[in-house]
Amino acid sequence: MGNLMFDEDIDSWETLMFLYNSALKEVQTKLEILNDEFVHVHKYNPIEYIKSRIKTPESIVKKLKRHGLETSVDNMINHIKDIAGIRIVCSFTSDIYRIAEMIGKQNDLTVISVKDYIKNPKDSGYKSFHMLVSVPIFLSDSVVDTKVEIQIRTIAMDFWASLEHKIYYKFEGHAPAYISQDLKNCADAVSELDAKMLSLNEAIMQAKKEQEEQE
Ligand code: GTP
Ligand code: MG
Repeated sequence: MGNLMFDEDIDSWETLMFLYNSALKEVQTKLEILNDEFVHVHKYNPIEYIKSRIKTPESIVKKLKRHGLETSVDNMINHIKDIAGIRIVCSFTSDIYRIAEMIGKQNDLTVISVKDYIKNPKDSGYKSFHMLVSVPIFLSDSVVDTKVEIQIRTIAMDFWASLEHKIYYKFEGHAPAYISQDLKNCADAVSELDAKMLSLNEAIMQAKKEQEEQE
């Protein structure tokens, strides 16, 4: 962190990072158990993969600056919601809501807020379902509620978001209009693909059911 923070903050910085890391582990394990249970009961795997990350100090400082805030541990805790982030990538759009519902039902997670960028996509074309949750971290002498941002999306949405991020980043938010429009068109193509895959899957399930009934 260099001289970005005062010395007395170093200890609380490390404590904070320890908490966010622990929160990521807790949520990740929870999701794996939910997925395993789902496979066990329904013989179906809704989660393709899970990625998690802790925001880098550089990116934390940049975001605070962008919001006109000075670099302090207090500002980090109070203003940056995505220091700990988990991305759940699933097969079909229907899985997204299934997973979100399962998360909402967990008694030891508190859902702080939800943003549905699938029903209401961003101007960029971005689609995903976001949940900000807090998870209690049990330390030897205290319990600390720690925030984790969960993003749930399909493989196709993840493909678009990852590449859009890479392309857009090069322009630092000032891409020529035709590029933004092309990216938006790609997002529409991705949505079409998602809808097609979902209906194909439904058709296959229906056909399989009918076959089994005849046997
Ligand atoms: P940030 O300051 O970007 O975190 O936005 P926010 O605090 O208003 O939250 P929001 O829900 O809009 O976005 C949170 C996260 O969603 C971002 O950090 C990205 O990971 C992702 N995201 C949001 N919009 C876009 C987008 O247009 N393109 C891509 N690729 N990702 C996005
Ligand atoms: Mg963010």
